[in-house]
Amino acid sequence: MEQLIINGGKRLNGTVSVSGAKNAALAIIPASILCKDVCIIENVPCVNDISVLLDAMIELGVKVNYIDEHTIRIDARKINTIRVNYEHINKIRASYYLLGALLGRFNEAEVALPGGCNIGNRPIDQHIKGFEALGAEVSIEHGMINAKTDKLVGSNIYLDVVSVGATINIVLAAVLAEGLTVIENAAKEPHIVDVANFLNSMGADIKGSGTDTIKIHGVKKLHGTQYMMIPDQIEAGTYMVAGVITGGDVTVTNLIPKHMEAISAKLKEMGVGIEELDEGIRVFMKEPLKSLHVKTLPYPGFPTDMQPQITALLATIKGTSLMTEGVWENRFQYTDELNRMGANIKVEGSTAFITGVNGLTGAEVTSTDLRAGAALVLAGLAAEGQTVINHTDYIDRGYEHIEIKLQKLGANIYRATAAENKKELFKVM
Ligand code: EPZ
Repeated sequence: MEQLIINGGKRLNGTVSVSGAKNAALAIIPASILCKDVCIIENVPCVNDISVLLDAMIELGVKVNYIDEHTIRIDARKINTIRVNYEHINKIRASYYLLGALLGRFNEAEVALPGGCNIGNRPIDQHIKGFEALGAEVSIEHGMINAKTDKLVGSNIYLDVVSVGATINIVLAAVLAEGLTVIENAAKEPHIVDVANFLNSMGADIKGSGTDTIKIHGVKKLHGTQYMMIPDQIEAGTYMVAGVITGGDVTVTNLIPKHMEAISAKLKEMGVGIEELDEGIRVFMKEPLKSLHVKTLPYPGFPTDMQPQITALLATIKGTSLMTEGVWENRFQYTDELNRMGANIKVEGSTAFITGVNGLTGAEVTSTDLRAGAALVLAGLAAEGQTVINHTDYIDRGYEHIEIKLQKLGANIYRATAAENKKELFKVM
């Protein structure tokens, strides 16, 4: 098992470039099978979730080639099954976008039911509500979701919960349906707009993405396209916090400032220096930081995927801060690991009470999910002494070459297998 080893306490300085948005790629890649043609997708992040998804697509009969590290060619002309097995869903839940894409193309799909995960039970009732509204018969047997219909017909769908996944999955099933589909109370995340733009570049007719009402006029056919994906707002936010938590001066480039508004606003409220550049944001220290209250909400609210990272920062700021998780019911598991590094965080229901401490201390810790792992990296960068992070596989699901990007900012961080690291420790002793 690989570990990340961090010798903390170094101020980060310099420029880091953001990779493509993981959560956009996880939807855009399956969307490409809606056309019997070739799609070229650029700015795809080099992260584990994407390789797992591409494996699932190859199993369906899709031809996938890497043109370069961040550009893939997808040829979905020949697909020989509508079934996606458990092994793929078990590795990444977002394979459930294949449900909407296969249903949209073939009027039929069989995809393993995704399980829960470390941040909540993650139901898919709203996805199913949308497919049924479009005329599909949906049943769940033996852990498989079966969706089938003679014809998909546009419909009005009101989402009872603002759901990114359900919004995207319904769009995927509706683009080739007959007539108009209106999704109300839709999610508005930047990657939803990116998926809609990708599909429109294939000849779809989607309007209103990024608002809470999305209108999809079904079309007969889609064609191939060449498309550049948006940068990852959460990766960008994570590196902004890396600059702040180490008291450094970091410019995060290749981002879309508009997507960063909620994150920049909260950092500014804390007293962080923020300079907006054309394609980047510079964070720097200008005064002692202030504790505050953060509540995570669907976009354009403060993103839940930045919650652990900001909590790690608040743990180092004098005073008592509150972090209220408004999206997931169980997204504070990582705080036990932060407390093992000297943080003082108490969780009651959906709120974490964070009493800032003078400094964190390095420890051996384990990441419980992707963003929890990112929070532990940030805490390790700020902590005095060495931090060893286990389960880096979680982190690699959503952060491209994280240790290399941080090394370029001056961090003392490296990747080791547990065995190598034991030898290293003996050497030190
Ligand atoms: C996406 O998950 C992201 N994953 C998550 O990021 C992110 O935390 C989440 O959106 C919220 O922004 C991907 O895009 C692959 P939801 P998703 O459906 O689509 C409830 C990361 O770290 N709900 O918007 O699964 C659900 O329980 C990951 O990159 C239903 O009740 O999230 C939750 O409370 C972690 N019924 C809320 O909606 C449903 O049918 C939001 O979930 C669907 C969701």
